[in-house]
Formats: sequence, C-alpha cells, structure tokens
Amino acid sequence: QDISQLPLTNVKGVPLIKYFAEMVGPLQNFQAWPDDLLISTYPKSGTTWLSEILEMIYHSGDLEKCHRAPIYTRVPFLEFKCPGVPSGLETLKERPAPRLLKTHLPLALLPQSLLDQKVKVIYVARNAKDVAVSYYNFYKMAKVHPDPGTWDSFLEKFMDGQVSYGSWYQHVQEWWELSRTHPVLYLFYEDLKENPKKEIGKIVDFLGRSVSEESVDHIVQHTSFKEMKKNPMANYSTLPTELMDHSISPFMRKGIVGDWKSAFTVAQNERFDAHYAEKMAGCKLDFRWQ
Ligand code: PPS
Repeated sequence: QDISQLPLTNVKGVPLIKYFAEMVGPLQNFQAWPDDLLISTYPKSGTTWLSEILEMIYHSGDLEKCHRAPIYTRVPFLEFKCPGVPSGLETLKERPAPRLLKTHLPLALLPQSLLDQKVKVIYVARNAKDVAVSYYNFYKMAKVHPDPGTWDSFLEKFMDGQVSYGSWYQHVQEWWELSRTHPVLYLFYEDLKENPKKEIGKIVDFLGRSVSEESVDHIVQHTSFKEMKKNPMANYSTLPTELMDHSISPFMRKGIVGDWKSAFTVAQNERFDAHYAEKMAGCKLDFRWQ
C-alpha cells in the first residue's frame, strides 16, 4: 500500500494522519506517572532538539547512553503508529521512571491522566512562517502525510488549520493558556537558537536539577544543529526510506530562523500577516521572525 495516498482523518475536529488518529482512542487509557516529563510541540518546532537536550540532562551528559537508540525510541512519541515500526505505546512498555514523553496533540485529544497527574510539560513554540516551510518539506519526505500539493496550496491549508494536528494558532495559544493552571515551561525555538545556554538553564531549573556549567557547555555542543544532523541516533536516518525519504528533504534540513524568506512570495507574506493578525488578536505571545 502506498501510504502517501492516505487522506487525513478528522478526530474531534482535528485532522490527523490516519494511523495516529487510530491511537487517540487507546491513548485515553494511558496512565501518566507524576515524574513523567512531557515534551509538547506543534510539529516542526524543535521537538527533536529539545528531546536530545533532555536526554543529555537525564543521562548527565553521558554520550554513550544518548547513543543507545534512535531519538524516537529514547523519547516515546505517544500517538505514533506506522506499519512495520513499534508504536509509541509499545515503545513505552516497561519503560522505567523517570520517563520522557513526546506529543504534538492539541489539548482536546491529550490523555487526561497527564493533566490529572500534573505531569511537567516543556512546550516549544516556533514562528509560524518557519514552521509552515519546515512542515511543507516534511510532508514531502515523511510518507505518512498526504501529498502536500504546491507550496501555495499547502500554505493555504496551514493557515486554515487543514494540516495534520490542525491549527498552529490554536495550538500555541491553548498550551500557553494551560501554563496558568499547569506546570508548563514555555520556550521558543528562536530563543534556543540565540542563546541555548540560557534556555538549557531554564530547563534545568524547571526540572529542579543542577548541572555544572561545563556540562551545560557539553550539552550545547552535542545538541547543535551540526552535531545532530550527523548523528544517526538524532537525525531519523535509521527509519526505513518507505517512511522517511531524506533524499527528498533531510529531516535535519536547515535548522535556522527566518528560512521562510526563501519560500514566501511578497503576496503570500502580506496575506499571511493579515490573517495572522486576525488569528492572534489579543494574544500576548510574541514571536520573532528572523
Ligand atoms: S517533528 O517531526 O515535528 O518532531 O520535527 P521537530 O523536531 O519538531 O522539528 C524539526 C525542525 O527542527 C530543526 N532542528 C534543529 N534546529 C536547530 N538546532 C537543532 N539542533 C535542531 N534539530 C532539529 C530541523 O532542522 C527542522 O527544521 P527545518 O527548518 O526544517 O530545518
């Protein structure tokens, strides 16, 4: 079966990859533990980067331990399911505490237990234009997505929330709102890029851990884009090409802020800005675009 021909499935108003949609039901029985740590992001916002940073912190910078398995095994992806690869729930089986978990789900589909157990969340948000460009390239290389069509038509779908995981605008805002009542550390990709040391400091404080300055420097170095791009345990090259074809676009593509300028036309940018102002009216989140 050609998996790239499968349309998205609507779950409670959220379009999802068909296989992931099938996991939403079973996931509602997921039992969170109070010492779990949930990495939450809208896709293409720095999930893998944050995952590797947390792995390094959890293993005190031990590279051997961080090279033990691919990132999607080390940090189980809750709603993940694909033919021929263990699902997120299977990967989680018999995983000892403390567990690192990853999700892109909007709050409406999140397993309730994560909220009930007050599981700490680290959320990374990235500016919408760079996310849209990164997502377009990802749609093409990660075969579980339907054909994205032209860049122009994909951008329209993105603005309309008709892409996998739905609306970026709603996602970044609702997880921000959650931080009023739930332990959420809300980070920005652009800040991580500008000053990783400072952001890692915030993560360490949020976790209630202490890490030496030398160790933080080591983490910054190991989790740089350059290092992660060549690290098979971080760059997704271990997945079969039927699922991800890096010759179309590598998973570790550019890793920069402001790449949208190479994709948006002037007209697309004007339309996007007007739409953005409408969707984000009254929202305090302030994104940096370059
Ligand atoms: S996914 O599939 O949703 O989990 O993807 P995600 O990991 O969230 O996002 C992938 C984008 O993040 C870039 N990336 C990085 N940027 C800077 N530094 C590091 N270490 C890093 N690791 C991954 C990756 O290149 C994707 O962005 P683009 O713009 O496509 O390059």
